Amino acid sequence: MKLTVIGCGYLGATHAACMAELGHEVLGMDTDRDKILALGAGKAPFFERGLDDLLAKHTADGRLRFTASYAEVASFADLHFLGVGTPQRAGSDAYDLNDLFIAVRSLAPHLHRPAVVVGKSTVPVGTAPRLAAILREEAPAGEQTEVAWNPEFLRESYAVEDTLHPDRLVLGFTSEHTHAERVLRQCFGKIIEAGAPVITTSLATAELVKGSANAFLATKISFINAIAEVCEAAGADVHQLAEALGHDSRIGARGLRAGLGFGGGCLPKDLRGFMARAGELGTDQALGLLREVDAINLRRRERMVDLAREQLDGTVKGKRIAVWGAAFKPGTDDIRDSPALAVATHLHRLGADITVHDPKALDNARKAHPELDYADTAFDAAERADLLLHLTEWPEFTDISPVGLASHVSRTKVVDGRGALDPDRWRQAGWNFRSLGCC
Ligand code: UDX
Repeated sequence: MKLTVIGCGYLGATHAACMAELGHEVLGMDTDRDKILALGAGKAPFFERGLDDLLAKHTADGRLRFTASYAEVASFADLHFLGVGTPQRAGSDAYDLNDLFIAVRSLAPHLHRPAVVVGKSTVPVGTAPRLAAILREEAPAGEQTEVAWNPEFLRESYAVEDTLHPDRLVLGFTSEHTHAERVLRQCFGKIIEAGAPVITTSLATAELVKGSANAFLATKISFINAIAEVCEAAGADVHQLAEALGHDSRIGARGLRAGLGFGGGCLPKDLRGFMARAGELGTDQALGLLREVDAINLRRRERMVDLAREQLDGTVKGKRIAVWGAAFKPGTDDIRDSPALAVATHLHRLGADITVHDPKALDNARKAHPELDYADTAFDAAERADLLLHLTEWPEFTDISPVGLASHVSRTKVVDGRGALDPDRWRQAGWNFRSLGCC
């Protein structure tokens, strides 16, 4: 099949490359020409495991091309995926849908043939019918345009894997047995044949599935972090507790890692966007729980700052603190709403002398926070440090020998914000070891 993907960030670029991998002819579109040039040369402008290989493979075999032209998009295919970013609106909890609406308004005048436009971006419920109305009114093909919704559940650093082997496909349509359903079932044929469950829904349900999934995941993480607060007060160990809970198949172990909490470009803003839309719909009372989920999550960052202060005899002013981690989680160079950087910048504002190392996210962190110091290795960051904070659980950090590290620091004090370092190993090497969620 021929298809296009409009918006080539983490979501769109991955979707475009994976659709080429499924055998389709794909044209990716983005208004950022630097991004288009990089992608066209087979290189993602961000780090995502396995993506560069797919981009290189399919830009070379001609199945995947990129453009900045809406006219070219419309003439290339009659199936268009929307992967445009929908960030949190400045000064509000709601989504900023500007770029998404601009994209659809820019595409519409070029649609002279019947077309299926499929939203993948995460949006507040009720967005798809508004986009459909724009296409009906502004596209020459008018009533022969159809909007469908196919939310994306990919995790960064597993984006390729999650796109090619999804847990499920959710397909939202205006009515049953539409032309769009036939087209999408054909497009995802290989994935469906491989056994992925398909759930067909209304547009509204499909839009809501994504927000609810992220709200649930966020709730699970904040649940274990609330229990971590109790564990700290009671002298218990939240990591052992989580392991014990996770064996219960009704609960499950995934998403129960206690620590510094969630960040990134999705979970925090989807949680807030979900609440904002519920408020507009007059159902916000049902979501009081989610407000607490957000508050618990942000409290973990404050707790880490307090623990650092405690470890440094009541003040961090003038103290050297090494921060391991800048990415919001391991396996990515994404620093959007990174808990690690939130802690690092807070400590810097309190007068600490911060040096950060991250295996992939240093360039992004340097650009966003030039006020911090950066080191090219984990050892360099720890040089003469009064305190080491482990804030993003890269294997590069968990593998480091605390014995060798001890001679580099001023004081052998470490706080593990991710429950990923082995306490016994660090204590045996002479370190004063603290972990969020443990006494
Ligand atoms: C998430 C959803 O998983 C994905 O389905 C959705 O499409 C986009 O948002 P992502 O942001 O890539 O994906 O990361 P995820 O692996 O879910 O982790 C989110 C955050 O939660 C990270 O900051 C991570 O460190 C944190 N986390 C995750 C925990 O603190 N504990 C856990 O047990 C799991």
